[in-house]
Amino acid sequence: MSIKELLKKIDIERIPKHVAIIMDGNGRWAKRHNLPRIAGHREGAKRVRKIVEVSKNLGIKVLTLYAFSTENWLRPKKEIKALMHLLVIFLRKELKSLKRDNVKLTYCGNIKEFPKAIREEIIKTAKATIDNTALILNLALNYGGRDEIIRAINNILNEHGKKTDITPEIFSRYLYTADLPDPDLLIRTSGEKRISNFLLWQIAYTELYFTPVLWPDFKENDFLEAILDYQNRERRFGSV
Ligand code: FPP
Repeated sequence: MSIKELLKKIDIERIPKHVAIIMDGNGRWAKRHNLPRIAGHREGAKRVRKIVEVSKNLGIKVLTLYAFSTENWLRPKKEIKALMHLLVIFLRKELKSLKRDNVKLTYCGNIKEFPKAIREEIIKTAKATIDNTALILNLALNYGGRDEIIRAINNILNEHGKKTDITPEIFSRYLYTADLPDPDLLIRTSGEKRISNFLLWQIAYTELYFTPVLWPDFKENDFLEAILDYQNRERRFGSV
């Protein structure tokens, strides 16, 4: 369907508040084009720009992108370096447009393990956009769902000792996403049908959408298709 047709069908009153995306398939895209894996990531970074813009225009409130997982450290050093570099380039290049478009940059994950220069760039961008209100662009950086849950448990034990009666609400406040609503829609590109340690707690009632499209090929119409598919589902949250 064309963008125009999709926009006609999408109910602007029922746009998901929080969309999370596992941006997968950069490597396969590069292979298909006979290019090094890094070229796939570079192309993937371009899609990030576009999807942020579309999200903002649709009125999505939070967009969480899985940019670097705790497992990504297992990749060759050169690729890790290139991913970090792309992130910094993205932050530097986009700061202006994030400010102009009223987008707030936040992150979830343990960025303490990132090189200092990268960490500083992330924190700088977050600070510079902290008062923006149209869209939260939440980057998952050195993020792992199990890691996050264990970290929350340790923090709860440290702060409250063993006697606290933990409720799901209290627990949620100890997650990186404490200030965010749970995702309404989770998209994974590239045909893989796995969660890969992403937002394990937060996606309890999230609608899952898997598409064979590789992330560097994921265009505006693919994103709108996902939203339309989401709108055609009935969400019951365990009720009847
Ligand atoms: C998965 O593709 C993608 C990643 C591990 C990293 C995602 C990074 C980007 C889209 C670019 C930089 C990000 C920002 C926010 C500017 P893969 O390499 O696992 O692909 P494959 O499964 O086909 O090998």
